[in-house]
Amino acid sequence: MTTTPGDGPPIRLGIAGLGLAGAMMIRAAVIHPRVVLAAGADPLPRPREAFARDFGARVYAGFEALCADSEVDAIYIASPHEYHADQAVKALAAGKHVLVEKPLALTLADCDTVIAAAEAAKTHLIVGHTHAFDPSIRAIADLVRGGTLGRLGMILAFNYSDFLYRPRRPEELDTSRGGGITFNQVTHQIEIARLIAGGMVRSVRANVGVLDPSRPSEGNCTAFLEFENGAAASLTYSAYDFFDSDEFHGWVAEGGADKPAGRHGLTRQGLLAAPGTEPDRQKDLGYGGRRLPPEQPHLPHFGTVIVTCAKGDVRLSSNGLLVYGLDGLSEVPVPRGLGRPGHGDALDALWAAMREGRRSSHDARWGKATLEVGLAVLQSARERREIVLAPQVPVF
Ligand SMILES: NC(=O)c1ccc[n+]([C@@H]2O[C@H](COP(=O)([O-])OP(=O)(O)OC[C@H]3O[C@@H](n4cnc5c(N)ncnc54)[C@H](O)[C@@H]3O)[C@@H](O)[C@H]2O)c1
Repeated sequence: MTTTPGDGPPIRLGIAGLGLAGAMMIRAAVIHPRVVLAAGADPLPRPREAFARDFGARVYAGFEALCADSEVDAIYIASPHEYHADQAVKALAAGKHVLVEKPLALTLADCDTVIAAAEAAKTHLIVGHTHAFDPSIRAIADLVRGGTLGRLGMILAFNYSDFLYRPRRPEELDTSRGGGITFNQVTHQIEIARLIAGGMVRSVRANVGVLDPSRPSEGNCTAFLEFENGAAASLTYSAYDFFDSDEFHGWVAEGGADKPAGRHGLTRQGLLAAPGTEPDRQKDLGYGGRRLPPEQPHLPHFGTVIVTCAKGDVRLSSNGLLVYGLDGLSEVPVPRGLGRPGHGDALDALWAAMREGRRSSHDARWGKATLEVGLAVLQSARERREIVLAPQVPVF
């Protein structure tokens, strides 16, 4: 094993779930100077074989075998939502540090089980990656917290994507099993707003929709979040592949790659033109299937985010922040960090916790608070009323 001088040995990372999220984290880990890819687990043979071949890493069909691997320090859990809580508890019990994908769990009771396990463990648990780890979002949060722009008033976040028409597992189109955009996509916006506004959502009013009966889970959402500190956030998401809000971000894709302009509707047309191929195409999204863009000339983003404070507005540019202040407009570059921005920042947080003992705000209680907001979005839409939450956890 190579070591990073002065910093301690790299984290020996195990990846549980070699699908799309797994492939994205592998792409970040492989260039991260403080991480080595040690092992992987997935019930599907093809991504396992590709991972073993590419990294000379050990692979397992079952999650428990990955937990039993004594040469794995930390496990990134990127299996489908329904496994997150149980696998997080098992990994902690095996003495592993954990980076677990959002949502932390599908119920608040399961979140409580993970919280208890994390607080009893000697290892760290971080919920991520989410776009709240993006360097530009963390830079906005730091700017707001630093106070030079005055009191935070409101946050606008909107994203229009093709999410619903990318090939999906059946449960991803079943809300009762965590399907639809609320758990998967709106979660990013909730985390972004919580990080910038300090974390403590007071109440939620929302409306969600299922506009295409052939994709029978939520595909559009508009939510109004009010924070304990008086700030508010307006979150809008559409997954119907009509308008693409990357058009408002210079045709930079979510991950920071350049994106061809004017491809509206192609994902929906492609899927509907080839009925019956969805299961195979869904598996092709995993490791060793579709090739993800290796280059990342710009910072990652999650649609448009505009933050209004007493002395200025801030929004994302492709490589930093645009600050519209009392003295006019200035662009503030945002450093890209050690590894691949976004996913690499989640790995940085894992490193900081494991090697420097610096706890991340994105812990199990944070993950539960984010799920509380997501569940309140669905409840508010169902009951057509404002939902007042129990006190949430702040950013620390
Ligand atoms: N943060 C992000 O940017 C991001 C992006 C995509 C997905 N995700 C999250 O990652 C998770 C997986 O989503 P995906 O899009 O990668 O799905 P996917 O279907 O592409 O991949 C899931 C993988 O997990 C494997 N798997 C199934 N059961 C397993 C188990 N018990 N143990 C280990 N692996 C198992 C599957 O075979 C598959 O290879 C979801 O919870 C989603 O919210 C996060």
